[in-house]
Amino acid sequence: MSENKLTITAICGSLREGSFNRKVLKAMEELAPKHWEIHRADLSNIPLYNADIESQGDPQSVALFKESIRQADGVLIVTPEYNSGIPGVLKNALDWVSRPVKSSVLIQKPFAIAGATPGSGGTAQSQAQVRQTLLAMNAYTMPGPKILIGGIHEKLNETTGELDDESTLRHIEKFLTAFEQWIYFFK
Ligand SMILES: Cc1cc2nc3c(=O)[nH]c(=O)nc-3n(C[C@H](O)[C@H](O)[C@H](O)COP(=O)(O)O)c2cc1C
Repeated sequence: MSENKLTITAICGSLREGSFNRKVLKAMEELAPKHWEIHRADLSNIPLYNADIESQGDPQSVALFKESIRQADGVLIVTPEYNSGIPGVLKNALDWVSRPVKSSVLIQKPFAIAGATPGSGGTAQSQAQVRQTLLAMNAYTMPGPKILIGGIHEKLNETTGELDDESTLRHIEKFLTAFEQWIYFFK
């Protein structure tokens, strides 16, 4: 594809320090084409959505998150599944940036979703809910290929703790290539 710089905002749906999903995100950063500039969003300081707070102006954490997405060519979400659905931290952050409804930074923004779990379901239900949420926000989510990583704890290097399962890494490369095509589809 084009060698022009692409700016990507990367969101991890887990705040946990040793998050498996953040390890997947790290692998994506390492495998991404050199012309991608990936900025990780920080959801840790985003308050619970409250229209009273919003009416006084976005908190700085929300303003920074919105600006990162506004400037991005595409947004990558790597998220766990909680109780067969989307983690509250992620849903809350997306709710903030979905406003104002008619001019939100999410409108027509290309997204790709991935997720990892020690369980066998690969975060399928969580990802389905993220898709539904982004559809409501008029974002453009890549239909496939999907990345549903089950048994993630068995796919890490014993020494470094990083993702080193060959077939998963090759699949991530295909996913990233497809995401670039998806982004250019709307450019
Ligand atoms: C509240 C809660 C609910 C969970 N529900 C699910 C679930 O429905 N499906 C699943 O595969 N894993 C579930 N898990 C396990 C997570 O996949 C696991 O904790 C995972 O490591 C979280 O992602 P992270 O490592 O990126 O923080 C749940 C974990 C928590 C804390």
